[in-house]
Amino acid sequence: MNQTIILGIESSCDDTSAAIIKGNAILSNVAATQAIHVEYGGVVPELASRAHQQNIVPVVHQALSKANIQQNTISAIGFTRGPGLLGSLLVGTSFAKSLAMSLDVPLIEVNHLQAHILCHFIEDANPKPPAFPFLCLTVSGGHTMIVLVKDYFDMEIIGKTMDDAAGEAFDKIGKMLHLDYPAGAIIDKLAKIGNENAFTFNKPKVDDYQYSFSGIKTSVLYFLQKEVKKNPDFIKENLEDICASVQKCLVEILMNKLEKAAKDLNINEIAIAGGVSANSGLRTAMKENEEKLGWKTYIPKFEYTTDNAAMIAMVAQLKFERGEFAPLNISATARYDI
Ligand code: KG4
Ligand code: ZN
Repeated sequence: MNQTIILGIESSCDDTSAAIIKGNAILSNVAATQAIHVEYGGVVPELASRAHQQNIVPVVHQALSKANIQQNTISAIGFTRGPGLLGSLLVGTSFAKSLAMSLDVPLIEVNHLQAHILCHFIEDANPKPPAFPFLCLTVSGGHTMIVLVKDYFDMEIIGKTMDDAAGEAFDKIGKMLHLDYPAGAIIDKLAKIGNENAFTFNKPKVDDYQYSFSGIKTSVLYFLQKEVKKNPDFIKENLEDICASVQKCLVEILMNKLEKAAKDLNINEIAIAGGVSANSGLRTAMKENEEKLGWKTYIPKFEYTTDNAAMIAMVAQLKFERGEFAPLNISATARYDI
Protein backbone atom coordinates (compact mmCIF):
# COMPACT_ATOMS: atom_id res chain seq x y z
CA MET A 1 0.00 0.00 0.00
CA ASN A 2 1.32 3.42 -0.98
CA GLN A 3 1.68 5.49 2.20
CA THR A 4 3.40 8.50 0.63
CA ILE A 5 2.11 11.80 2.02
CA ILE A 6 2.03 14.77 -0.36
CA LEU A 7 0.87 18.38 0.03
CA GLY A 8 -0.95 19.79 -3.00
CA ILE A 9 -1.39 23.52 -3.63
CA GLU A 10 -3.83 25.13 -6.09
CA SER A 11 -3.93 28.86 -6.90
CA SER A 12 -4.71 29.12 -10.62
CA CYS A 13 -7.75 31.40 -10.42
CA ASP A 14 -9.68 32.70 -7.40
CA ASP A 15 -9.59 29.75 -5.00
CA THR A 16 -6.62 29.22 -2.72
CA SER A 17 -6.59 25.54 -1.85
CA ALA A 18 -4.33 23.05 -0.09
CA ALA A 19 -4.80 19.31 0.36
CA ILE A 20 -3.00 16.38 1.90
CA ILE A 21 -3.03 13.03 0.14
CA LYS A 22 -1.77 9.68 1.50
CA GLY A 23 -1.58 7.10 -1.23
CA ASN A 24 -4.77 7.84 -3.18
CA ALA A 25 -6.75 8.93 -0.11
CA ILE A 26 -7.42 12.58 0.64
CA LEU A 27 -6.81 13.41 4.32
CA SER A 28 -7.77 17.07 3.99
CA ASN A 29 -8.89 19.43 1.25
CA VAL A 30 -9.19 23.07 2.32
CA ALA A 31 -10.16 26.06 0.16
CA ALA A 32 -10.53 29.77 0.72
CA THR A 33 -12.83 31.26 -1.89
CA GLN A 34 -12.47 34.94 -2.67
CA ALA A 35 -15.73 36.80 -2.10
CA ILE A 36 -14.15 40.06 -3.29
CA HIS A 37 -14.85 39.27 -6.98
CA VAL A 38 -18.65 39.13 -6.53
CA GLU A 39 -18.95 42.93 -6.45
CA TYR A 40 -17.03 43.18 -9.75
CA GLY A 41 -19.06 40.47 -11.50
CA GLY A 42 -15.95 38.49 -12.40
CA VAL A 43 -12.44 37.64 -11.27
CA VAL A 44 -10.14 40.69 -11.03
CA PRO A 45 -6.63 39.20 -11.53
CA GLU A 46 -4.78 41.77 -9.41
CA LEU A 47 -7.16 41.27 -6.47
CA ALA A 48 -6.98 37.49 -6.88
CA SER A 49 -3.17 37.45 -6.51
CA ARG A 50 -3.35 39.63 -3.41
CA ALA A 51 -5.97 37.40 -1.83
CA HIS A 52 -3.89 34.27 -2.58
CA GLN A 53 -0.97 35.98 -0.86
CA GLN A 54 -3.10 36.50 2.25
CA ASN A 55 -4.77 33.09 2.20
CA ILE A 56 -2.01 30.69 1.32
CA VAL A 57 -0.30 30.30 4.69
CA PRO A 58 -3.52 29.86 6.73
CA VAL A 59 -4.93 27.45 4.12
CA VAL A 60 -1.81 25.25 4.16
CA HIS A 61 -1.78 25.32 7.98
CA GLN A 62 -5.43 24.26 8.05
CA ALA A 63 -4.83 21.44 5.57
CA LEU A 64 -1.99 20.12 7.75
CA SER A 65 -3.92 20.35 11.00
CA LYS A 66 -7.13 18.83 9.54
CA ALA A 67 -5.09 15.90 8.25
CA ASN A 68 -3.40 15.75 11.64
CA ILE A 69 0.07 15.42 10.21
CA GLN A 70 3.39 17.13 10.91
CA GLN A 71 5.30 19.01 8.20
CA ASN A 72 8.22 16.60 8.49
CA THR A 73 6.11 13.65 7.30
CA ILE A 74 5.47 15.25 3.90
CA SER A 75 7.35 13.48 1.08
CA ALA A 76 6.80 16.06 -1.67
CA ILE A 77 5.00 19.29 -2.60
CA GLY A 78 2.78 19.43 -5.69
CA PHE A 79 1.61 22.75 -7.12
CA THR A 80 -0.41 24.05 -10.07
CA ARG A 81 2.02 25.39 -12.65
CA GLY A 82 -0.68 26.39 -15.16
CA PRO A 83 -2.86 27.15 -17.03
CA GLY A 84 -4.49 30.07 -15.25
CA LEU A 85 -3.96 33.68 -14.19
CA LEU A 86 -0.22 34.29 -14.05
CA GLY A 87 -0.27 36.49 -10.93
CA SER A 88 -2.32 33.87 -9.09
CA LEU A 89 -0.14 30.98 -10.25
CA LEU A 90 3.01 32.81 -9.16
CA VAL A 91 1.82 32.95 -5.55
CA GLY A 92 1.27 29.17 -5.33
CA THR A 93 4.43 28.42 -7.31
CA SER A 94 6.69 30.63 -5.17
CA PHE A 95 5.19 29.29 -1.97
CA ALA A 96 5.56 25.66 -3.08
CA LYS A 97 9.18 26.22 -4.12
CA SER A 98 10.09 27.88 -0.83
CA LEU A 99 8.42 25.18 1.25
CA ALA A 100 10.00 22.37 -0.77
CA MET A 101 13.38 24.01 -0.25
CA SER A 102 12.94 24.52 3.48
CA LEU A 103 11.60 20.98 4.06
CA ASP A 104 14.19 19.57 1.65
CA VAL A 105 11.58 17.51 -0.27
CA PRO A 106 10.98 17.20 -4.02
CA LEU A 107 8.80 19.65 -5.91
CA ILE A 108 6.23 18.38 -8.42
CA GLU A 109 4.59 20.57 -11.06
CA VAL A 110 0.98 19.86 -12.03
CA ASN A 111 -1.09 20.82 -15.07
CA HIS A 112 -4.43 22.11 -13.77
CA LEU A 113 -6.43 20.57 -16.63
CA GLN A 114 -4.83 17.16 -16.26
CA ALA A 115 -5.65 17.44 -12.57
CA HIS A 116 -9.36 18.06 -13.25
CA ILE A 117 -9.40 14.87 -15.34
CA LEU A 118 -7.26 12.76 -12.99
CA CYS A 119 -9.38 13.68 -9.96
CA HIS A 120 -11.23 10.47 -10.85
CA PHE A 121 -8.33 8.47 -9.41
CA ILE A 122 -8.76 9.89 -5.91
CA GLU A 123 -9.92 6.98 -3.76
CA ASP A 124 -13.36 8.37 -2.91
CA ALA A 125 -14.04 10.30 -6.16
CA ASN A 126 -15.98 7.34 -7.60
CA PRO A 127 -16.85 3.82 -6.49
CA LYS A 128 -14.12 2.77 -8.95
CA PRO A 129 -11.85 4.76 -11.29
CA PRO A 130 -12.38 4.83 -15.08
CA ALA A 131 -10.52 2.31 -17.25
CA PHE A 132 -8.27 3.53 -20.08
CA PRO A 133 -9.06 4.63 -22.69
CA PHE A 134 -11.89 6.87 -21.53
CA LEU A 135 -13.44 10.09 -22.72
CA CYS A 136 -13.59 13.04 -20.34
CA LEU A 137 -15.80 16.05 -20.96
CA THR A 138 -13.75 18.71 -19.19
CA VAL A 139 -15.91 21.73 -18.51
CA SER A 140 -14.88 24.70 -16.42
CA GLY A 141 -14.95 28.48 -16.40
CA GLY A 142 -12.01 28.65 -18.77
CA HIS A 143 -12.17 25.42 -20.76
CA THR A 144 -14.61 23.15 -22.55
CA MET A 145 -13.21 20.13 -24.29
CA ILE A 146 -13.59 16.44 -24.94
CA VAL A 147 -10.40 14.65 -24.02
CA LEU A 148 -9.44 11.13 -25.05
CA VAL A 149 -7.52 9.83 -22.03
CA LYS A 150 -5.31 6.97 -23.21
CA ASP A 151 -3.22 6.80 -20.02
CA TYR A 152 -2.55 8.97 -16.97
CA PHE A 153 -0.30 11.35 -18.88
CA ASP A 154 -1.26 10.50 -22.44
CA MET A 155 -4.23 12.68 -23.32
CA GLU A 156 -5.55 14.01 -26.62
CA ILE A 157 -8.02 16.85 -27.01
CA ILE A 158 -10.42 15.70 -29.72
CA GLY A 159 -12.73 18.71 -29.59
CA LYS A 160 -12.97 22.03 -27.81
CA THR A 161 -14.82 25.29 -27.77
CA MET A 162 -14.17 27.79 -30.51
CA ASP A 163 -15.22 30.71 -28.33
CA ASP A 164 -16.60 30.83 -24.76
CA ALA A 165 -16.28 28.01 -22.25
CA ALA A 166 -19.48 26.39 -20.92
CA GLY A 167 -18.90 27.83 -17.43
CA GLU A 168 -18.41 31.24 -18.99
CA ALA A 169 -21.78 30.86 -20.75
CA PHE A 170 -23.45 30.04 -17.42
CA ASP A 171 -21.72 33.02 -15.78
CA LYS A 172 -22.44 35.52 -18.57
CA ILE A 173 -26.09 34.51 -18.88
CA GLY A 174 -26.28 34.73 -15.08
CA LYS A 175 -25.08 38.32 -15.32
CA MET A 176 -27.91 39.10 -17.78
CA LEU A 177 -30.29 37.66 -15.17
CA HIS A 178 -28.73 39.90 -12.48
CA LEU A 179 -27.34 36.89 -10.59
CA ASP A 180 -24.11 37.02 -8.60
CA TYR A 181 -20.80 35.81 -10.04
CA PRO A 182 -20.09 32.92 -10.55
CA ALA A 183 -23.64 32.12 -11.60
CA GLY A 184 -23.34 28.46 -12.61
CA ALA A 185 -24.35 26.98 -9.26
CA ILE A 186 -27.08 29.62 -8.77
CA ILE A 187 -28.64 28.87 -12.18
CA ASP A 188 -28.45 25.16 -11.32
CA LYS A 189 -30.31 25.72 -8.04
CA LEU A 190 -33.03 27.90 -9.60
CA ALA A 191 -33.39 25.51 -12.55
CA LYS A 192 -34.51 22.77 -10.17
CA ILE A 193 -37.80 24.60 -9.53
CA GLY A 194 -38.33 25.87 -13.08
CA ASN A 195 -39.89 24.51 -16.25
CA GLU A 196 -37.11 23.51 -18.63
CA ASN A 197 -39.47 23.55 -21.60
CA ALA A 198 -40.74 27.09 -21.00
CA PHE A 199 -38.39 28.70 -23.54
CA THR A 200 -36.21 27.39 -26.34
CA PHE A 201 -32.95 28.74 -27.67
CA ASN A 202 -31.14 27.96 -30.91
CA LYS A 203 -28.28 25.49 -30.68
CA PRO A 204 -25.00 26.14 -32.53
CA LYS A 205 -24.13 24.29 -35.70
CA VAL A 206 -20.45 23.42 -35.47
CA ASP A 207 -18.40 20.57 -36.92
CA ASP A 208 -17.13 17.38 -35.36
CA TYR A 209 -16.60 17.57 -31.61
CA GLN A 210 -16.22 21.35 -31.49
CA TYR A 211 -18.31 23.55 -29.24
CA SER A 212 -19.54 27.12 -29.47
CA PHE A 213 -21.37 29.04 -26.76
CA SER A 214 -21.30 32.62 -28.02
CA GLY A 215 -24.44 32.09 -30.15
CA ILE A 216 -26.65 30.93 -27.30
CA LYS A 217 -25.40 33.80 -25.15
CA THR A 218 -26.49 36.29 -27.82
CA SER A 219 -29.73 34.43 -28.39
CA VAL A 220 -30.59 34.66 -24.65
CA LEU A 221 -29.62 38.34 -24.61
CA TYR A 222 -31.91 39.26 -27.55
CA PHE A 223 -34.72 37.15 -26.09
CA LEU A 224 -34.47 38.91 -22.73
CA GLN A 225 -34.25 42.38 -24.31
CA LYS A 226 -37.38 41.68 -26.35
CA GLU A 227 -39.36 40.33 -23.38
CA VAL A 228 -38.21 43.02 -20.93
CA LYS A 229 -39.38 45.70 -23.40
CA LYS A 230 -42.89 44.21 -23.20
CA ASN A 231 -42.75 43.51 -19.46
CA PRO A 232 -40.02 45.15 -17.32
CA ASP A 233 -40.53 42.47 -14.64
CA PHE A 234 -40.13 39.58 -17.10
CA ILE A 235 -36.86 38.31 -15.63
CA LYS A 236 -38.05 38.48 -12.03
CA GLU A 237 -41.35 36.78 -12.83
CA ASN A 238 -39.81 33.99 -14.93
CA LEU A 239 -36.38 33.53 -13.38
CA GLU A 240 -36.67 29.81 -12.53
CA ASP A 241 -38.13 28.95 -15.95
CA ILE A 242 -35.42 30.92 -17.76
CA CYS A 243 -32.71 29.20 -15.71
CA ALA A 244 -34.17 25.74 -16.32
CA SER A 245 -34.53 26.37 -20.06
CA VAL A 246 -31.01 27.80 -20.41
CA GLN A 247 -29.54 24.92 -18.42
CA LYS A 248 -31.38 22.35 -20.52
CA CYS A 249 -30.03 23.93 -23.69
CA LEU A 250 -26.42 24.13 -22.41
CA VAL A 251 -26.50 20.53 -21.15
CA GLU A 252 -27.91 19.31 -24.48
CA ILE A 253 -25.15 21.10 -26.40
CA LEU A 254 -22.52 19.47 -24.16
CA MET A 255 -24.06 16.01 -24.28
CA ASN A 256 -24.74 15.90 -28.05
CA LYS A 257 -21.06 16.21 -28.92
CA LEU A 258 -19.99 13.86 -26.14
CA GLU A 259 -22.45 11.23 -27.39
CA LYS A 260 -21.18 11.66 -30.96
CA ALA A 261 -17.56 11.23 -29.82
CA ALA A 262 -18.39 8.15 -27.72
CA LYS A 263 -20.20 6.56 -30.66
CA ASP A 264 -17.56 7.39 -33.29
CA LEU A 265 -14.68 6.21 -31.11
CA ASN A 266 -16.63 3.26 -29.77
CA ILE A 267 -15.80 4.11 -26.15
CA ASN A 268 -18.24 3.58 -23.31
CA GLU A 269 -16.09 4.68 -20.36
CA ILE A 270 -17.24 8.29 -20.05
CA ALA A 271 -16.23 10.84 -17.42
CA ILE A 272 -16.93 14.49 -16.68
CA ALA A 273 -14.69 16.92 -14.82
CA GLY A 274 -14.28 20.61 -14.00
CA GLY A 275 -16.53 23.15 -12.29
CA VAL A 276 -19.49 22.65 -14.64
CA SER A 277 -19.45 18.90 -13.89
CA ALA A 278 -21.09 19.93 -10.60
CA ASN A 279 -24.20 20.77 -12.63
CA SER A 280 -27.15 18.59 -11.68
CA GLY A 281 -28.64 18.65 -15.20
CA LEU A 282 -25.37 17.41 -16.68
CA ARG A 283 -24.97 14.77 -13.97
CA THR A 284 -28.51 13.49 -14.59
CA ALA A 285 -27.97 13.40 -18.37
CA MET A 286 -24.81 11.35 -17.85
CA LYS A 287 -26.60 8.86 -15.58
CA GLU A 288 -29.47 8.51 -18.06
CA ASN A 289 -26.98 7.42 -20.71
CA GLU A 290 -25.95 4.43 -18.58
CA GLU A 291 -29.33 2.88 -19.37
CA LYS A 292 -29.88 4.46 -22.77
CA LEU A 293 -26.43 4.01 -24.34
CA GLY A 294 -24.74 1.46 -22.08
CA TRP A 295 -22.18 3.96 -20.81
CA LYS A 296 -20.13 3.43 -17.70
CA THR A 297 -20.11 6.94 -16.26
CA TYR A 298 -17.69 8.62 -13.88
CA ILE A 299 -19.08 11.64 -12.12
CA PRO A 300 -16.73 13.07 -9.51
CA LYS A 301 -17.74 13.81 -5.96
CA PHE A 302 -18.81 17.47 -5.68
CA GLU A 303 -15.73 18.63 -3.78
CA TYR A 304 -13.50 17.46 -6.65
CA THR A 305 -15.43 19.29 -9.40
CA THR A 306 -14.68 22.99 -8.87
CA ASP A 307 -11.07 24.07 -8.34
CA ASN A 308 -9.48 22.17 -5.46
CA ALA A 309 -6.04 21.07 -4.30
CA ALA A 310 -7.07 17.43 -3.81
CA MET A 311 -6.84 16.87 -7.57
CA ILE A 312 -3.42 18.59 -7.61
CA ALA A 313 -2.21 16.31 -4.81
CA MET A 314 -3.54 13.29 -6.75
CA VAL A 315 -1.49 14.15 -9.84
CA ALA A 316 1.53 14.89 -7.66
CA GLN A 317 1.17 11.40 -6.18
CA LEU A 318 1.09 9.83 -9.66
CA LYS A 319 4.19 11.79 -10.66
CA PHE A 320 5.95 10.95 -7.39
CA GLU A 321 5.52 7.25 -8.20
CA ARG A 322 7.15 7.95 -11.57
CA GLY A 323 9.98 10.02 -10.08
CA GLU A 324 8.93 13.08 -12.09
CA PHE A 325 10.23 16.02 -10.10
CA ALA A 326 10.53 19.69 -11.02
CA PRO A 327 13.67 21.82 -10.64
CA LEU A 328 13.54 24.64 -8.07
CA ASN A 329 13.98 27.26 -10.80
CA ILE A 330 10.71 26.25 -12.48
CA SER A 331 8.28 29.06 -13.30
CA ALA A 332 4.48 29.27 -13.59
CA THR A 333 2.93 29.40 -17.05
CA ALA A 334 -0.42 31.00 -17.95
CA ARG A 335 -0.84 28.75 -21.00
CA TYR A 336 -0.20 25.07 -20.58
CA ASP A 337 -1.44 22.35 -22.94
CA ILE A 338 -2.35 18.93 -21.61
O1 KG4 B 1 -13.21 24.36 -12.58
P1 KG4 B 1 -13.64 25.66 -12.02
O2 KG4 B 1 -13.86 25.77 -10.54
O3 KG4 B 1 -12.63 26.80 -12.39
C1 KG4 B 1 -11.98 26.88 -13.61
O4 KG4 B 1 -10.94 26.17 -13.77
O5 KG4 B 1 -12.51 27.63 -14.46
O6 KG4 B 1 -14.98 26.07 -12.78
C2 KG4 B 1 -15.67 27.24 -12.47
C3 KG4 B 1 -16.90 27.32 -13.35
C4 KG4 B 1 -17.67 28.63 -13.22
O7 KG4 B 1 -17.94 29.11 -14.52
C5 KG4 B 1 -18.95 28.22 -12.50
O8 KG4 B 1 -20.06 29.03 -12.83
C6 KG4 B 1 -19.13 26.81 -12.97
O9 KG4 B 1 -17.83 26.27 -12.98
N1 KG4 B 1 -20.01 26.01 -12.09
C7 KG4 B 1 -21.20 25.51 -12.47
C8 KG4 B 1 -21.76 24.85 -11.34
N2 KG4 B 1 -20.86 24.97 -10.31
C9 KG4 B 1 -19.80 25.68 -10.79
N3 KG4 B 1 -21.84 25.57 -13.65
C10 KG4 B 1 -23.04 24.97 -13.73
N4 KG4 B 1 -23.64 24.33 -12.69
C11 KG4 B 1 -23.04 24.24 -11.49
N5 KG4 B 1 -23.63 23.60 -10.49
ZN1 ZN C 1 -10.37 24.53 -12.91
